[in-house]
Amino acid sequence: MFTTRERTFLVEHRVYNKIYYLRQAIENGYRHFDTAFHYQNEDSVGKAINDAIKEKKLKRSDFFVTSKLADHHKESGTPKKMIDHQLEKLGLDYIDVFLIHSPWSVVPTEDLLSMTKKIDENGKLLMMDICPTETWKELEQAVGAATDIGKIKSLGVSNFSSSQISEILKICKHRPQMNQVECHPLFPQKELLHFCHENQIHMTAYSPLGGVSREIENTKTKNFEFMKNKTIMQIATEIKKDPAQVLLKFQVRRGILVIPKSANDARQKSNKDLFSFEFSKEQLSEIEEMDDGKEGRGWTEERVSHSKFFPW
Ligand SMILES: NC(=O)c1ccc[n+]([C@@H]2O[C@H](COP(=O)([O-])OP(=O)(O)OC[C@H]3O[C@@H](n4cnc5c(N)ncnc54)[C@H](OP(=O)(O)O)[C@@H]3O)[C@@H](O)[C@H]2O)c1
Repeated sequence: MFTTRERTFLVEHRVYNKIYYLRQAIENGYRHFDTAFHYQNEDSVGKAINDAIKEKKLKRSDFFVTSKLADHHKESGTPKKMIDHQLEKLGLDYIDVFLIHSPWSVVPTEDLLSMTKKIDENGKLLMMDICPTETWKELEQAVGAATDIGKIKSLGVSNFSSSQISEILKICKHRPQMNQVECHPLFPQKELLHFCHENQIHMTAYSPLGGVSREIENTKTKNFEFMKNKTIMQIATEIKKDPAQVLLKFQVRRGILVIPKSANDARQKSNKDLFSFEFSKEQLSEIEEMDDGKEGRGWTEERVSHSKFFPW
């Protein structure tokens, strides 16, 4: 077991490491950073950006920062408080796009900043029936009349279905600019992409490399091991690129934004090299054939499937 001093050192070491990888990413040309209250890394993201502004010839406007409203911050009045809190954590004057992290809402604990969630006697997360359109109205109120001059430049959603976005489009003053969802060859989200593009909403692919297997509050995400997938490996060999570049190029050529996570210098560099090659028609159809329908979803989120606003 670690002593308190050792634990403090480990936490500091982890924070230092996070900033190190972020600085490395900026050095490697990354300018879009995806963060969220849930990730507990807004301070590191903001520090890396502010350091780069001070030390390099970079401006705040060179960066694009996404952050998100957490599932337990939906009660009336809380979104406004959290925008201020999250901006303070980031140490930035504004956030480029602020997303509702998920359409479902969970019951908050007394301490809003705590990551602990309330559960019932069966270990199930306690949910709140807050309609996403209500949260949208709260956010619009919080950001004021003109998003482009305020603390939040634009608003968006994450993990929303097309019907949930349609409900927002019916009532909104500021249209949602982005829907951030899981997306990769096994789960290409064709219909949702069509809907988003028809409505001038950007789609961002999270876990574009298949992500990593995670244990979150009793939900285990699937690990697709794309780097060992036969089709992806075969195409990567044919075009002399990495499997990850095949996965990312597939999305970029569909007009989807990608936010791959890498803490590794060489992988950060190669994940950015997506515009020096193309697929043949045959290679493209092989990737398209990987579509595994509903089975392709890695983030099944059973832990919140009892929510009235569960999207899938
Ligand atoms: N809105 C949401 O609900 C939601 C949910 C999940 C994720 N996200 C966002 O999406 C981002 C990315 O998703 P993710 O972290 O789930 O998965 P991901 O980006 O698909 O995969 C990350 C994993 O791939 C590895 N990797 C990166 N580049 C590689 C390469 N070239 N070759 C081989 N392996 C490589 C990384 O390891 P190394 O670091 O060692 O390179 C890491 O283990 C997250 O950071 C987060 O911002 C959002």
